[in-house]
Amino acid sequence: MKVDAFEKLERPISAFDHDDHNDKAALEDCSVCHHVYEDGKLVEGESSEDQACADCHTLKAQGSQPGLMMAYHRQCKSCHIESKKGPVACGECHVKK
Ligand code: HEC
Ligand code: HEC
Ligand code: HEC
Ligand code: HEC
Repeated sequence: MKVDAFEKLERPISAFDHDDHNDKAALEDCSVCHHVYEDGKLVEGESSEDQACADCHTLKAQGSQPGLMMAYHRQCKSCHIESKKGPVACGECHVKK
């Protein structure tokens, strides 16, 4: 998954085949990842699927809104840890080609 907001990459681009990933993981609710917050509270049932994470998450954190790298890491890894499925080690996502 190429993210242009990171200018100079320290790691190989992470593996993430959107539709294939979400099929395999049986994720039907888009807002699990494409969330919407209002006054710091999650708005249930609303989705921001027409926006990139970087549209809201700047490189640096803003208050309780994590910076862009942390946003990906927290969202991706917390679900993998909770569901005990999916990669959590650096090299499993940032795979050298
Ligand atoms: C496991 C998390 C996850 C789920 C579930 C998910 N997406 Fe995504 N989606 C992403 C990520 C991550 C990106 C890349 C965003 C970026 O470039 O920052 C993305 C990108 C997109 C984009 C391109 C957005 C853009 O303009 O950059 C669309 C459209 C999209 N998703 C639609 C959907 C729809 C519709 C669903 C539900 C059927 C869905 N997604 C479910 C994680 C998810
Ligand atoms: C429309 C704006 C918006 C978009 C788009 C968005 N976020 Fe967020 N996100 C927020 C806000 C605002 C917060 C902070 C909520 C708070 O104050 O606690 C947040 C919080 C988070 C958090 C910490 C809370 C949690 O859910 O664990 C993570 C992780 C996160 N976002 C990841 C992502 C990822 C990954 C994407 C892209 C798939 C994304 N966000 C897209 C606005 C957005
Ligand atoms: C809400 C839960 C959830 C979120 C969020 C999530 N994943 Fe996953 N992911 C899974 C599950 C479940 C699997 C195992 C699927 C299976 O059974 O093969 C998985 C598997 C994977 C795999 C292994 C190959 C594949 O496609 O099955 C990769 C790579 C991966 N995830 C990357 C990511 C990245 C990168 C993100 C963040 C942008 C992310 N995941 C967010 C649940 C999630
Ligand atoms: C679940 C998958 C996943 C895991 C595990 C993971 N990352 Fe990432 N990481 C991502 C995604 C997605 C991005 C967004 C950019 C991309 O696609 O490479 C990212 C971005 C980054 C970036 C910013 C872009 C760059 O290359 O400079 C760095 C640095 C990074 N990760 C380092 C790490 C390190 C170090 C670890 C282990 C401690 C790690 N990541 C573990 C998915 C992951």
